[in-house]
Amino acid sequence: MDFEKKILCIGAGYVGGPTMAVIANKCPQYKVTIVDINPERIAQWNSDDLPIYEPGLAQVVKEARGRNLFFSTEIDKGIRESEIIFVSVNTPTKTFGAGAGMAADLQYWDKTARQIREHSTSDKIIVEKSTLPVRTAQAMERILTVDDNGIRFDVLSNPEFLAEGTAIKDLENPDRVLIGSRETRSGLKAREELVEIYANWIPRERIITSNIWSSELSKLVANAFLAQRISSINSVSAICEKTGADVTEVARAIGMDSRVGDRFLNASVGFGGSCFKKDILNLVYLCRNYDLEEVAKYWEGVVKINDYQKERFVLNMLNTMFNTLAGKKVCILGFAFKADTGDTRESPAIFIANRLAEENAELVITDPNALKNAIKDLDGIDGKVSFEEDPYKAADGCDAIAVMTEWDVYKGLDFERIYQSMTKPAFIFDGRNILDHQKLYHIGFNVFPIGKPALTHFEAE
Ligand code: UDX
Ligand code: ADP
Repeated sequence: MDFEKKILCIGAGYVGGPTMAVIANKCPQYKVTIVDINPERIAQWNSDDLPIYEPGLAQVVKEARGRNLFFSTEIDKGIRESEIIFVSVNTPTKTFGAGAGMAADLQYWDKTARQIREHSTSDKIIVEKSTLPVRTAQAMERILTVDDNGIRFDVLSNPEFLAEGTAIKDLENPDRVLIGSRETRSGLKAREELVEIYANWIPRERIITSNIWSSELSKLVANAFLAQRISSINSVSAICEKTGADVTEVARAIGMDSRVGDRFLNASVGFGGSCFKKDILNLVYLCRNYDLEEVAKYWEGVVKINDYQKERFVLNMLNTMFNTLAGKKVCILGFAFKADTGDTRESPAIFIANRLAEENAELVITDPNALKNAIKDLDGIDGKVSFEEDPYKAADGCDAIAVMTEWDVYKGLDFERIYQSMTKPAFIFDGRNILDHQKLYHIGFNVFPIGKPALTHFEAE
């Protein structure tokens, strides 16, 4: 069959995989190929056991795979054959040299740009999908056009705003799609070609265009704003715990102001995920680079409050459990960085587990979807740690439960049964405020929510 367009995506990860699967699903007239340097990942994408868990993804892949969606390791061939190349390789925080711990590590991007140049025999549109610091498109253009071989490359920025756990929904029905380009004739033409692809299923008014630097910056700023809301409400949770105010009531009161809005105001043990911290640190690094120290410090505060919130959670456990956790058994209820994903990147549970182990607590980790990753994350932890799929078995004999992930199944657990099996006094630290605290208190638990008065059976001092 002759396809109308041939699209390639380099990098079959959390972004590339679902995004391309949805494009292929919505546009059977295009051939969509996803390549990756990791053959195991590609083999998984070609099997029934996909490398990432995402509600609805398996169905979308099943419908399109083999028809117009292909997963392959043949990167060079893919580059030669396609007109549009999305790049969604990983851009982790640099761990070495200048900007270590802050700047984006662009080595995978750099390599990909060189590979594209080497294997291209016709004009191409290159689409930045990974989150990148501002002005990366320019670096890409420079690498691509270093030898004058008569091939035209137009670089576009098309940041992905999907959230894990709702990726398919977000891709099928996004709030907006953003496409940035050079404002030259050929840049604008390339921009229009990408608009056409999305317009197959997204209303035109939700596809917005801008200059390329605005587009790159918008992605960093979008994540910084979202994370800032969480750090704002988490900072308020600390003052609620001191004053007797209830953070949920405060969030409700401020969220009903339509200028503020009610979403993303859930106080928690802290935000995690692969994007928030990385993108904010990127923004901070960028500001410092441009000598904007005050702006850098402002955004750095969002990450600092997040670190503070995680540490506060541990200290609260320590203080309320009579200032010693040594030899006490703690059930970590949930390990994923949020519900409906098996992803644990930057999950607050990693920090909490390490800190509790430092206090010589014994840990039992449970999670419906993330145990495999948890085992990797805690490899080499200095302490006694075990992993258990069944939450009832995990809590058995524990002194405390620490809720780390807002899994729906946890709301329906039989806490009466759990209480009976625990060491007394039994504690629950609800890092997500998802449980019925009054009910737990009446069962006999000492309950410590985030940003709300604790419910304890101990006599007041
Ligand atoms: C985020 C952005 O939402 C998405 O637009 C971007 O493309 C990638 O980064 P993601 O990391 O998948 O997506 O998850 P998100 O739902 O944003 O949650 C991030 C973290 O914040 C999670 O740990 C979550 O539990 C926490 N969170 C979220 C809160 O603690 N409180 C809230 O009110 C909302
Ligand atoms: P993200 O969350 O941004 O999608 P992931 O780490 O999940 O990040 O995915 C990035 C993917 O890119 C990985 O599967 C990795 O193997 C792949 N990758 C990295 N460098 C290259 C490269 N030069 N060519 C092809 N694939 C690459």
